[in-house]
Parts: sequence; structure tokens; C-alpha cells
Amino acid sequence: MTDDSRIGAIWSALKAADVPELRTIFTNDPDRLAKHVIEVGGTRFDFAKTHLLDATVDAFVDLADAADLAGARTAMFAGEAINNSEGRAVEHSALRGEGRAETVKEAKMLRSRMRTLIDAIEAEALGEVRHVLHIGIGGSALGPDLLVDALARNSDRYDVAVVSNVDGAALEEAIKGFDPHATLIAVASKTFTTGETMLNAASALQWMMDAGVDDPYGRVIALTAAPEKAMEWGVDETRILPFPESIGGRYSLWSSIGFPVAMALGWAGFEELLEGAAEMDRHFRTTPPRDNAPLRAAFVDQYYARVRECQTRAVFAYDERLRLLPSYLQQLEMESNGKAVTRDGVAVDGPTAPVTWGGVGTDAQHAVFQLLHQGTHLIPVEFIAVTEAGDRQDPAHHDTLLINCFAQGAALMQGKESDDPARTYPGNRPSSTILLDALTPNALGALIAFYEHRTFANGVLLGINSFDQFGVELGKSIAKAIESEGPKGFDPSTMALIERALT
Ligand code: F6P
Repeated sequence: MTDDSRIGAIWSALKAADVPELRTIFTNDPDRLAKHVIEVGGTRFDFAKTHLLDATVDAFVDLADAADLAGARTAMFAGEAINNSEGRAVEHSALRGEGRAETVKEAKMLRSRMRTLIDAIEAEALGEVRHVLHIGIGGSALGPDLLVDALARNSDRYDVAVVSNVDGAALEEAIKGFDPHATLIAVASKTFTTGETMLNAASALQWMMDAGVDDPYGRVIALTAAPEKAMEWGVDETRILPFPESIGGRYSLWSSIGFPVAMALGWAGFEELLEGAAEMDRHFRTTPPRDNAPLRAAFVDQYYARVRECQTRAVFAYDERLRLLPSYLQQLEMESNGKAVTRDGVAVDGPTAPVTWGGVGTDAQHAVFQLLHQGTHLIPVEFIAVTEAGDRQDPAHHDTLLINCFAQGAALMQGKESDDPARTYPGNRPSSTILLDALTPNALGALIAFYEHRTFANGVLLGINSFDQFGVELGKSIAKAIESEGPKGFDPSTMALIERALT
């Protein structure tokens, strides 16, 4: 049970608290690192350069208790229908072995089916396969794309391309260099009705037909929670890899949606990824709030969004292999928590998810960091870096990358005085740093699960349902109306655009 009056009082106290500048926080507390850095597996989560004092963390622990975070977490892992607006359970952790026993068992069976199909593909049962064209959008593309790019860019197994955008230029780019006679198409869609995906899939099939491929449908794999729809579309049952309805799109990379990841990494790598995520599940489930990495990160998020009223948060990956992480996080965080009503349908009494944005270091330093250091917005920054290099160049490259990452966090915090206002850096700007020992499938699995649980924890602290996404529906239905009826019944601006470009 949540305790609303207690929640209100905690927020009021958090907003009223006097918090010193970051430099002073460090000077006042020589033990700060020991209390504001959390180690999980080989990953260091450093929240020390944020404004959260010990007392702030205490208040958030109290808030988590008043919001019954432990109860919500138990309900999620138990497979209760916590996605109340859709009457669904939220069971992505069961895919990695942590959750309701029946779902864990079902997931194991589905995984073994996926492995059997991959073994058959490797044995060339579907003919020669050198390329995998993964077609999906949103959660059916962002996770696989991130993982293949991060972990398998030098894979000598299969070339994998992920195409999501309905712009034909994206499909052309994806198949550039692919031999249609040696390509396998993976159509990834939870619903198997998403317009962009179905159009891309049809065009990819046409590309094969035009090239004279025998039985193009025989080279299509469907990754879906709607197997009957995939069969209607023409995919044989033996090549459909289903996953349960209780797996949300943006949480689905652990299911058969991860097929291209398993193809590119090999089965052992895919299993390692799941095990890394399971380790984070266990950490989130059993670690007390103060030492619980996803929960502490959510405290930081809530503090800046609600107490300091920051409208954005920035994520910079200081590792080229993680260049797709900001886009992946945009969907995870903004589609999950970009809501304006509570799970009971009442208007929330403050800001919910900030805008997540970001890029890669060091590139971003030469583009957007000016605003971070001297602009008028306060933007909490998150740095992600990896100790072990992912390249074979002179070690100076990786050292320079890490040096820059750490320098930026220090500069944001310490600032610099000057007689010249244009050369003054105000400092006192917060950052968190996540430092992985190495970018292994295990470590990345744990990192992604960390972000999933942090997003869930944010939702619970806000009192919202993180697992629906009705906000995306209106635009989809208007697009359908334009497609079927043309410029009818819209505002003059929209009608003029349709008339000019589409008729
Ligand atoms: O439009 C939003 C959305 O429903 C996402 O939540 C989802 O990841 C994406 O579309 C793709 O949906 P599907 O996997 O059903 O094609």
C-alpha cells in the first residue's frame, strides 16, 4: 500500500532542504565515496558527484518505502498484472530465469526452440546464410541493434543489419552489400501488425523475388508474440519464434527478438548476456535500497527531475561500441515514464520523465558540451565508460578517451572562476559515472537490466504505470486515416501539406 500523505511530506522536505555546492559536499564529507559509489559485478556506479547527501538518500529510502517499492517489485517478479491499464504482467526478467516459475519454464522451452532453429540455420538447413536482415521498429529493433553493434561488430559469423525506418533509403542502406541468395530475413514484431515493419518486410521479400531467390518465404523467420498473424502473413510455423504477451516491446531483447544477437554472437554469448541481466535482477531484488544500484540511480533521477526541475538528462557513452545506447535509452525511459497520469488515472502532481538525450564522447565535447558547462540549463549528465579498450590501436586512443571522460565530470563539478564573465565556468553541475571493467555480453546484459529496473523504480516513485504506451496510438490512427481517406477533415495546415506532397 502506498502512503500518499507521507509521500507528500517527504517531497516537501526534499524540496525545502538546503544543499551545499558539490565541491563543499566533498569537503564536508571525506567518506563520501564509500557511501555514494556502488560496485555490482565488474561495474562501478559512481553517484558521488551529484547533490544527493546522505540525508537525501535517507529521504528517498523513506519515499521508496512510502511508495511501496518493495511490494511493486515483488509483484513484478511474481508475474502479477502490474501493467494495470492493459491487464498484463511484466515478465521480461523471467526470460533470464528470474520470475514466476511457470513463465521461467515457458521461456526456457521457447529459448530451446530458438536454439534448435539457430543450429539448423548454422547447419544450412535453410540454404546458405551469410547475412541476416533484421526488420523491426522501436523495441523490436533498438535493443538488437545496440547489442549487435556493441558486441558483434567484428563477428566472423554473420553480417547483421537492422532496419527500422519505413523510409526506403533505410532498407536500401541495410541490404547494400547483401547477397539476396545468402540472406535470411528476421521479421521482428510483437504484434506483427506494425505498418513500417510489415512494409519493410514485404519490400525485402520483393528484393529476394526480383533476384530470383527460390522460395523467399522459406528464408523468413518471425519473432513475435502473435504467431497466428505471422502464419497469416505467410511464415511457416516451424520458423516462428514466439514470446509471451507479458513481454513489453521495449523489454523484449531477451526473448526471440534477440535472434540476430544470438546469430551474431553465437549461442554461448547470448546466454552470457541473459546471465548478466539475471545477476542484476538478483541485485535489484535483494539488495537494500542504499546499496541498490538501479534504485539509487532512480533517486538521482527523481531528485533532479522533481526537486531541481531539470527537464532533460544527458547520457554520453565514452565508448564507440555503445554509441547506440542513448537512442535505446530514449525509448526505454521516455516511452515508459513519459506520462501525465498516475496508475489510478489521476493527474501527476509534478514532472515525470525528463527528456533523455545524449551522444558519444569525445565527439559530443566538440558539439554540445559548451551548453552543459556554461549554459543556463542545469542538466544532470551520465557518463558511461569501459576500462578495457575495444580497439587494437595505440593504447593512447583509449587512454585519451577515458581521460576526457573523467575530465568532463571534474570540470562540470569544479567550474572555474575568472575576471572575464565569458571565461567563467559556474561549476556545481552534477554527473554520475558508470564504469565497466570490460564490455562483455555479461556486463552489457547487466547494464541494460540496470536501466530497466531503474526505469521501473522511477515509475513506482512517480506512482505511474511504466508499461503501457498509449501516447503513440493517436498519430498512428491519424496516419491510417490519411492513407485511406486523403486530405479530409483535418486542419488547413495538415490538409495543405497532404495536398502538396501526396496527391
Ligand atoms: O509504437 C510503439 C510501439 O508499440 C513500441 O512500444 C514497440 O516497441 C514498437 O511500437 C514496435 O511494436 P511491434 O513490436 O509490435 O512491431
